[in-house]
Amino acid sequence: MTLATLAEVLQPALQGGYAVGGLVCLGWEDMRAYTMAAEAEDAPVILQAGPSCREHTPLPVLAKMFRYLGESVSVPVVAHLDHGYSADECRIALDCGFTSLMFDGSKKPLQENIDETAAIAELAHAAGISCEGEIGFVGYAGGAASAGTDPAEAAIFAKATKVDAMAISVGNVHLQQDHEGGLDEARIRAIEAVTDVPLVIHGGSGVPLAQRTALARGSKICKFNVGTELRMAFGTALRAAVDAEPTTFDRVAILKQTHDPVMAAARAAIRALKPTKAEEGVC
Ligand code: 13P
Repeated sequence: MTLATLAEVLQPALQGGYAVGGLVCLGWEDMRAYTMAAEAEDAPVILQAGPSCREHTPLPVLAKMFRYLGESVSVPVVAHLDHGYSADECRIALDCGFTSLMFDGSKKPLQENIDETAAIAELAHAAGISCEGEIGFVGYAGGAASAGTDPAEAAIFAKATKVDAMAISVGNVHLQQDHEGGLDEARIRAIEAVTDVPLVIHGGSGVPLAQRTALARGSKICKFNVGTELRMAFGTALRAAVDAEPTTFDRVAILKQTHDPVMAAARAAIRALKPTKAEEGVC
């Protein structure tokens, strides 16, 4: 049984100079491959149920799947609600067994974001689980533009909400299909100078692997959310399997062929963030 809260994996990461992957799940095939990847890398993992995952599969079912996977390995596994947009959604996730809730009030005016996130953090902490909030707005490739995080606002947000992790907007953008969108390190330094809360980068797929590693080791960024690059590995493998065997109609036989490529992609994403052997001994 290695189910963990977000704080339980991010505080050691903050102290030990590494980061943990928040891997975007869409179904059984990818969440199982991510968990096996974490076990193979001997590193913690955060399984994330975001809006499109929840549109496809109800939260209580996802909670059972995440918890089952967490119980089947020896590394810490966090069952995380990603981009919860309402208190109701967060309450349902809490009641059905998630160990971490992200409340995303990033599109709201500052005070509203603070008040609503603080209420979810209080709810989460009373139940012994964790809460992530977002300050500034992380945009979408080909969609809504980002609003960079103001360091002074981040300091106020962290203190007033008591979140366990704070997502920031520092040049990161969701849904990028290449790794060319580097982060604004000067803004990261200005934010981490005013808070001790572990920082989160959404849109991790767009961040070059070398920069993920450098920031995992040398900044307060303790969580990189990664989705698009893993979905691309899944989609490519699925398409190849379907194209290679036009007469196969059994979906288990087809989906099985996504396992190795998705696990390999998840291992690469996790490996870029995990502690080196020497650091592991320290923490
Ligand atoms: P990418 O899909 O761009 O990696 O972003 C994932 C994410 O931030 C989920 O919250």
